[in-house]
Amino acid sequence: MTVVEDVASARPVRVGDRFSVEIERVAHGGHVVARHDGRVVFVRHALPGETVEVVVTSLGPQGRFVRADAVGVVVASPDRVEPPCPHAGPARCGGCDWQHVSLAAQRGLKAEVLREQLQRLGGIEEIEGVALVDSVTVDPVPGDDDGLGWRTRVRFAVAADGSVGFRRHRSHTVEKIDSCPLASPGVTDVGVTAYRWPGAAELEVVCSSSGDRAVIIEPPETRSARDLPRDVAVRGLRGRTWVSEQAGGRSWRVQTGGFWQVHPGAADTLVDAVRAALAPQPGEHLLDLYSGVGLFAGCLAADLGPEGRVDAVEFSVDACRDARRNLHDVPTVSIHQGDVEAWLATGAIDTVDIVVLDPPRSGAGPAVLDLVLDLAPRAIAYVACDPAALGRDIGHLRAAGWQVARVQGYDLFPMTQHLEAVALLLPPPPPPS
Ligand SMILES: C[S@@+](CC[C@H](N)C(=O)[O-])C[C@H]1O[C@@H](n2cnc3c(N)ncnc32)[C@H](O)[C@@H]1O
Repeated sequence: MTVVEDVASARPVRVGDRFSVEIERVAHGGHVVARHDGRVVFVRHALPGETVEVVVTSLGPQGRFVRADAVGVVVASPDRVEPPCPHAGPARCGGCDWQHVSLAAQRGLKAEVLREQLQRLGGIEEIEGVALVDSVTVDPVPGDDDGLGWRTRVRFAVAADGSVGFRRHRSHTVEKIDSCPLASPGVTDVGVTAYRWPGAAELEVVCSSSGDRAVIIEPPETRSARDLPRDVAVRGLRGRTWVSEQAGGRSWRVQTGGFWQVHPGAADTLVDAVRAALAPQPGEHLLDLYSGVGLFAGCLAADLGPEGRVDAVEFSVDACRDARRNLHDVPTVSIHQGDVEAWLATGAIDTVDIVVLDPPRSGAGPAVLDLVLDLAPRAIAYVACDPAALGRDIGHLRAAGWQVARVQGYDLFPMTQHLEAVALLLPPPPPPS
């Protein structure tokens, strides 16, 4: 974070201090930025252009910056709305960042963050000759009109008295809730908030696109089914350990605690975006890295046809087992269980046509990227859940001469700071002969 203005000459600031600030801009992390007395202030619950009264909630190292909550609005942004959830607000539930912002403006803020990370970390000012402000947007998932009811997987925290809620921002305190407006109706209907769960630390509730419902209770020794509906699987106690999801016209088995996109429209949105970016051709060889239960491998294998080939690499043993089962009818797909970098370094393949990279939040990193470039693909589709990691990895690819042909953001996590982006990267043009 770039934060120090003139801390040496600034007056000391303490947690609990109140003052007014004018908000300048949004920053990565679900907050906006202001300045006060020589310090940068990261403010939650405010918007660019607003004047707000803030309360200091914590200090950065050596007081180099300040975190604060907006507790009063002096001049409001036209994008400010009444939060749809009564638990949203300063010192309340930490699950959402942008409940006080209209949905359209939330997407605008996310696009600004995405562009800033691409520019600062990726070193790009434009894409295909078009300024980032015009070429990079964050689009809604088709059909998501209100940003509510989309969480098909919800991880609840359990308070010391066994009641259920979510942790407050940067706190271990649990904000107790009866229901979360972001949870899908199927998750809410499981009804875990109606009970106390003494000794438990977390409850994860899943309601899949097929209607399968399941709960994981941690730690395992506190597991109990209470009076949950009979069809709800409780891991380690009753029912299946997996749920069935639908995407790309196929069914997908996913372990209850395994990775699957949370928004019900996300998997199809991302498959469509990756397909549009890579334009897979019959007979091509696809490498699907960080492949989970095989979503991209399975969907794109159809485009490659019987002469095509897909290699999918995934670390999780459970996800690989599910992927093999999910794609048992697609003989052109091979699933490889292992670490992506280690697998690439074995030299199992020496060339490939197209690559899907869908790494965890930390990104793919230089070592994996260099091994991918050694395979000389004609295109890479990078699916990113952290714009900073995407920016860093794009910076590395650009240093190797690769070009960014497209970046599209998707609002797969309305009301929160999170976004997903799909970038298309192309190799340097061949030198003139
Ligand atoms: C963002 S998820 C994407 C999964 C899949 N592409 C999908 O869309 O459903 C990232 C996946 O990478 C896997 N993973 C994380 N680190 C890995 C590594 N070093 N090597 C291989 N797989 C890894 C995780 O287990 C997870 O399944």
